[in-house]
Amino acid sequence: MVHEKARINSEEILIEKLTGKHNLTNFRSYEPELVSFLIEDALNNQKQNLSLTFLWLYKGRITGYLTLLTDRINLEGDLKEFFKEKDIHYKSLPALKIGRLCVHDDFLRRGVGALMVASAIQIANEINQTKAGCRFVTLDAKRNPDKSKDSLHFYKRLNFKTLKERKKGTTPMYLDITSPNDN
Ligand SMILES: CC(C)(COP(=O)(O)OP(=O)(O)OC[C@H]1O[C@@H](n2cnc3c(N)ncnc32)[C@H](O)[C@@H]1OP(=O)(O)O)[C@@H](O)C(=O)NCCC(=O)NCCS
Repeated sequence: MVHEKARINSEEILIEKLTGKHNLTNFRSYEPELVSFLIEDALNNQKQNLSLTFLWLYKGRITGYLTLLTDRINLEGDLKEFFKEKDIHYKSLPALKIGRLCVHDDFLRRGVGALMVASAIQIANEINQTKAGCRFVTLDAKRNPDKSKDSLHFYKRLNFKTLKERKKGTTPMYLDITSPNDN
């Protein structure tokens, strides 16, 4: 398969909620666990109200998928102090979690991953405006010994902060979607 290198814009993307009618068999990623989640678990989780999965289509092909669910962050350490100074004394605060996010190997480094993160942030802001309080976007960044495949660096570039540093497996991260000017 030839890699097309041009960046993909949001206007070229069609977003569809996952259904049993989608053909997922051609989806490939260097992270096999994220392929098996999409093919084996995503729809079932959706039926059980555990998460929602959105497919990102470009010219009829699945370029990536984004799985979302609700979450909370327990306030500890620096984060607890940060909110205490704002007179916020709750033990935990509400969040929207990126449960899974994966770009098809054929479409890497064309901006799709960053667009999916921006879409999750936009959804969290919409929830805040119209449905329920939501302070953070959270995720567990998948670590990979190969730096070019380590999603921690991808999320750091998008301003996510590390909640607990872990070298292997996954590292929990968060983004505070409320700017200081909003307070
Ligand atoms: C991590 C992942 C989502 C990135 O998707 P992508 O579409 O290739 O990323 P983008 O093209 O949107 O890149 C956005 C920025 O992050 C940078 N970036 C992407 N992957 C990076 C990495 N592994 N390390 C450092 N920077 C990275 C890009 O250079 C780009 O910056 P630029 O626009 O200034 O050049 C993709 O590699 C992937 O799906 N990996 C497998 C699954 C996974 O690890 N998912 C995340 C854990 S849930």
